[in-house]
Amino acid sequence: MESTINYSEKIPNNVNLAEDRALQRALERWQPEFLDWWRDMGPDGSSNFDVYLRTAVSVEPSGWAQFGYLKMPDYRWGIFLNPVEGGATINFGEHKGEPVWQDVPGEHRANLRRIIVTQGDTEPASVEQQRHLGLTCPSQYDLRNLFQVNVEEGRHLWAMVYLLHRYFGRDGREEADALLTRRSGDTDNPRILGAFNERTPDWLSFFMFTYFTDRDGKFQLAALAESGFEPLARTTKFMLTEEAHHMFVGESGVARVIQRTCDVMKELATDDPAKVRAAGAIDFETIQRYLNFHFSVTIDLFGADQSSNAATFYTAGLKGRFDETKRTDDHVLKGLAYPVQNIVDGRLVDHEVPMLNALNEVLRDDYIKDSIGGVERWNRVIDKAGLPFRLKVPHKAFHRKIGSLSQVRVAPDGRVISEAEWNANEANWLPTADDRAFVASLMGRVVEPGKFAGWIAPPVVGINRQPIHFEYVRFN
Ligand SMILES: [Fe+2]
Ligand SMILES: [Fe+2]
Repeated sequence: MESTINYSEKIPNNVNLAEDRALQRALERWQPEFLDWWRDMGPDGSSNFDVYLRTAVSVEPSGWAQFGYLKMPDYRWGIFLNPVEGGATINFGEHKGEPVWQDVPGEHRANLRRIIVTQGDTEPASVEQQRHLGLTCPSQYDLRNLFQVNVEEGRHLWAMVYLLHRYFGRDGREEADALLTRRSGDTDNPRILGAFNERTPDWLSFFMFTYFTDRDGKFQLAALAESGFEPLARTTKFMLTEEAHHMFVGESGVARVIQRTCDVMKELATDDPAKVRAAGAIDFETIQRYLNFHFSVTIDLFGADQSSNAATFYTAGLKGRFDETKRTDDHVLKGLAYPVQNIVDGRLVDHEVPMLNALNEVLRDDYIKDSIGGVERWNRVIDKAGLPFRLKVPHKAFHRKIGSLSQVRVAPDGRVISEAEWNANEANWLPTADDRAFVASLMGRVVEPGKFAGWIAPPVVGINRQPIHFEYVRFN
């Protein structure tokens, strides 16, 4: 297999698509439907902009990206899989040590399809959630990053649609069509997962989303990159390289919001949120509430703390753990235990359950460890400014809607509390209508090269070593 991508075809690919005429025709029929969806639900009013985008030219790390101006509907969405590793074997579950599957085993067909559809559904969902943000961008640099994330989520959809068309016959094609008909937040035909039906109404939400929720993508994709179904593993490995940029946009975006807030607080010598707001920056308390919201909504995406589906997916070799092969246990996990939290006498108590049933919790805990790292880096920005405030990731039982922890009210510090205490404090812990209205009031559109909105600091460096005042988007 070539790792270089063939761009001379209508659908760029490195999977020798031309050799499978029926598949090629089916995808060429889906392509205009995808473009219709992009025009309807993609970035609002952007079709004619020339955007300084990167495009994958090879799946090799050395030759990954090419930068240039492109109108987004002309982006070369296509099908890119990491190269085959000859002789690969399944690394976990009851098929451990057997050769990986090049085709879908009949008995796992329904489960694999469900896994692929659920992953695929998140990709267009986030584009839909973010579609109006371009109208209130804080700078050209940020606008370009938003668009880069959007076109890559579009490509992630292509990645899952390829698998559905190639390996799942007629039901696969129907699922691929349905991926273009569900709509984020729609009451009748919503996206599959909760966090992907929430609104992303402002840029603070966008940065929190790309930091926290795209990181969920990283962990889900990393678990699927272990799959015994090799085409899924190779597809998701390449998607992971794109995901890293999305999380960078989130982490650096929030860091720049914090930097600006620090500058304003020092200038005014105040820690009064009202004064910070009056100066047009976002107070730390509001940033913390946004963080609490996005973190809690995102950790729900990992599913119930105990799940027989998770056990089945693992044992069957469909979905592994994060960093599966770096772990030193037997990769079968029978007889092993893992702590999950329950409520006993009004307190959260760890109790051990079979690890196979707790694999959602294992992935969630790995995710939490990873997300804390960036929050510590945000705190270093505040620390460097000499200010005492510290942002904190809330307890994992806080504001949960899924699993046994959804049955109780828990404070960000992990105390189980009464409904009355929750009601008295909710406005301190989660964004209020007033917070959202204030953040919305800051969202003007700044598009002059090198200029930035007053609530966010400029980045340290530009994209692809271009200067910060580079013309990242030409509006025409
Ligand atoms: Fe994605
Ligand atoms: Fe992403």
